[in-house]
Order: sequence, then C-alpha cells, then structure tokens
Amino acid sequence: MSRRIRIAPRIRGKGRDMAKDVTIAAIDVGTSKVLTLIGRRDGMGGAEVLGAGLAPAAGIRKGVVFDAGAARESIRESMEDARAAANIPAASAFITISGGHLEAHSCWGTLHSVGEDAAITSAELARAIEAARPEGLSPRKEVLHKLPRSFAVDGLRGVRNPIGMHALRIDVETVCVTAESSSVNALVGAVESARVHVDGTVAVPVATAEAVLSPDEMDRGVVLMDIGGGVTTVSVFRNGALWNAGVLPLGGNQFTTDLSLALNIAPETAEELKVRYGQAALDVTGDESVEIESPADGRLVRVERRVIARYLHERAGELFRLADRKLNEFGFPNLPPAGLVLTGGGSTLRGIERVARQQLGAPVKFAFPEDPGLPYDLRDPAFSAGVGALHWASRQPVKSTRESDRRQKFNDSYAQANAGPLSWLKGRMTKVAS
Ligand SMILES: Nc1ncnc2c1ncn2[C@@H]1O[C@H](COP(=O)(O)OP(=O)(O)OP(=O)(O)O)[C@@H](O)[C@H]1O
Ligand SMILES: [Mg+2]
Repeated sequence: MSRRIRIAPRIRGKGRDMAKDVTIAAIDVGTSKVLTLIGRRDGMGGAEVLGAGLAPAAGIRKGVVFDAGAARESIRESMEDARAAANIPAASAFITISGGHLEAHSCWGTLHSVGEDAAITSAELARAIEAARPEGLSPRKEVLHKLPRSFAVDGLRGVRNPIGMHALRIDVETVCVTAESSSVNALVGAVESARVHVDGTVAVPVATAEAVLSPDEMDRGVVLMDIGGGVTTVSVFRNGALWNAGVLPLGGNQFTTDLSLALNIAPETAEELKVRYGQAALDVTGDESVEIESPADGRLVRVERRVIARYLHERAGELFRLADRKLNEFGFPNLPPAGLVLTGGGSTLRGIERVARQQLGAPVKFAFPEDPGLPYDLRDPAFSAGVGALHWASRQPVKSTRESDRRQKFNDSYAQANAGPLSWLKGRMTKVAS
C-alpha cells in the first residue's frame, strides 16, 4: 500500500558517496499519511532530499496517536521506503508534532550581567531565550519551541538583533509553542518502536512555514492554514516571527464524511467523488451528473455535481468561520497585509480559496514546497510539513531527545542559580569542588 516517491536520478546519485554522518531525516506523521524524507544539508541553510517514503497512516486520529501498534507499522513502512529510495540506512529522524493540544504563548526570558565591555554574542542570546518560560505551564505540558520575537537591551524595546550591542541586561520576548506531553510521548514511542531514534521534534505550524512562507510574507504579516486530513493548523506570522498558532479539529476527511453520510455511499466512494469531481465554490453550472463505480462494492453511483459542491461548500464555510474565530482570539479581526496562505492536502480541493476569500475577505494564495532542486513529486501541498521539517532538521544540532531533556534541565538550573560572567564555569567548579 505504501508508495515510494521517485527522486530525480541526479539528486539520488549525489547522495551515494556522502558519509552517513551528514544524513538528516524527518517524519511527518499525519492523520492520512506518513511521509519520511531522508536528505542532507545543502550548505545554504536548507536541505537536499535524497529519498522519500510515503505510507497511509494508521492509528492516528486528528494528528494524535491512538493506536501505537498501527502507527508503528505505518512509520516503519514509510521509513523503509525512504531508506530504499535514498540508499542510506538512516536510523534517526526529526518528527512533526500536531493535534489540538498545540498552543503558542508569549513569554519573556532575561539574562542579567551580560558584561558591558563585551559585545552581546549569539551564545548569550541563546541563554536569554532558554530562560524564557510560559507562566503557569501545566505539568502535563511541555515546551517544544522558544522562538524569539523581539529583544529589549537594557530596557530599550523592539530590538530585532542585539548581537554586537553592549548591555548589562537582555530581555527576549519569545513565542513558546507547547504540547501535551502524553501526546508527544505517544508519538515518540511509536517512532522509536519502529526502530527510529528521535533526534528532535518540530511543531507542524513551524515546519509548514519553513516550506511555504517567504521572509517577506512573514515580515509583512500573514496567516497560514495547513488543511490536513484530520486537522487544520492556523498560524499567524508577523515582523518575521511566529505570533500565534492553534489547531482546528477539522480537516479534509470531514468533507469526505459529509458526502458519505449525505449520499449514503461508502467513504472510499465519497473520497473518490470529492477528489475527482468535487469543488467548494458554488459556480457549477447546469445539472451535470457524474457516475463512478464504488470501490467498496462495484455499485454505480450517479450524482449531480452541484449537489456534491453544495455539501463541500457548507463544510468549507464552517472551516473558514472557525479559522476566523481563532484569528479573532489571536487578536487579528482583520487579516494581516500578506493575507492568507493555504496549504496541506485539503487545500487541493477546487474552489476552496474562493470560499476563503468570500469569508475572510483578503488575498488568498495556494502554496506548496517549491525550493530549487526539490524533486517534482514532493511539490505538493500535502508535503509542506514534511519538507519544512527536513529544512528545520538541517539547521538543528543533532542530539537525542533524552540528551536534550537532560541539557534543558541543566541549562534551567544554571539560568536560575548562576547569573553572571562565566557562570557556567563557576557553577561547574563549585560542583566539582564539593
Ligand atoms: N485533490 C484533492 N481534492 C480534495 N481533497 C484532497 C485532494 N487531495 C488530497 N485531499 C485531501 O487532503 C487530506 C489529506 O491531507 P494531508 O495529507 O495534508 O493530511 P495529513 O497531513 O495526513 O493529516 P493531518 O495534517 O490532518 O494530521 C485528505 O482529507 C484528502 O481527502
Ligand atoms: Mg498534515
């Protein structure tokens, strides 16, 4: 059932003689499919794909694992196909995290006594960012990302890049993306039971933006919607950074279920009807009917195209109403200047962008990964999160989740207990001496 994605021979061949320590991999476990990409750093801050594997997802509901054994099998299948395509025995990967439990919060981190005589370094910025903590974070939740929004240097707010400035104190405003630990652990467990070590996690809104948003759009302000099978991720970017993100419990599969229930046909038939003849806009003319053979029982199903369109239109309307409500909660009653970008498999539905434009009244763009050198088969909106996750992975130091947890605890205790020049060294010396 799985599908190996063809990779252009030029690209596939290039990977052959490279040492395996430059290999990176990303797995996007969606509600509909599991996409695994194996690649390598391209030397320009991105990644080059060497092989991809795609398998239908099982055991995932609305982005979250509910049957670990079934999920493990889809992950294993997808990884095996990617390994075969890349001809590289990748043993670890970054994974995407999705689901209604994802949230974003603004939180501040502070670093005192930076050292007035010396310019601020990237290491000090990293320490200030590490010190950021969402207030009152439930013990059932964990922080996936701390993404800097802006800095204040000795109280001077709105600084975008303080590296090289002189100051005694740096404050950083970050967006902390949080997730429910039980959901993260369930996915990490399923991936590791498929004998793939987890190098790190990336939230879907962060990964998808990596693949489809330009720096200019993020600067001007843009809303990104990844319409998947089970969920739709809504995120806002502004001043070049993530501003807020949330996940709606509604995706393309619901459109299929609507058709299946309304027309009393099997879900497979409804899916076929949707993909081949469906559209979300209501400008279907005449009473043209379509006929398809039900993949379930071979029965012929005949239905008017405008009837299909009516159900799909209603559901699309609901999706954008929910997105609008979410944007209001985020404090955006109007769309930001760069408008709305739609991606994810569900955005392939014909006419959905017109419904979005009617409902939200702003420029709407359909996007998929297009970076130069990306194999043709991966230029698909359903692969935005996977391709973005590989880009994300290419910029991360590779470390195990357990190592990173330990390091996180270490850094936290240092940030709290040891503020001051060379605190990292002093702290260690005290420990060694005692
Ligand atoms: N041509 C098409 N027309 C309409 N819908 C489509 C088309 N192609 C794919 N879809 C829909 O896209 C959805 C799958 O999208 P995608 O692969 O992005 O989901 P996923 O990442 O597996 O799930 P999720 O992100 O929700 O966990 C399915 O509901 C499918 O019916
Ligand atoms: Mg998805």
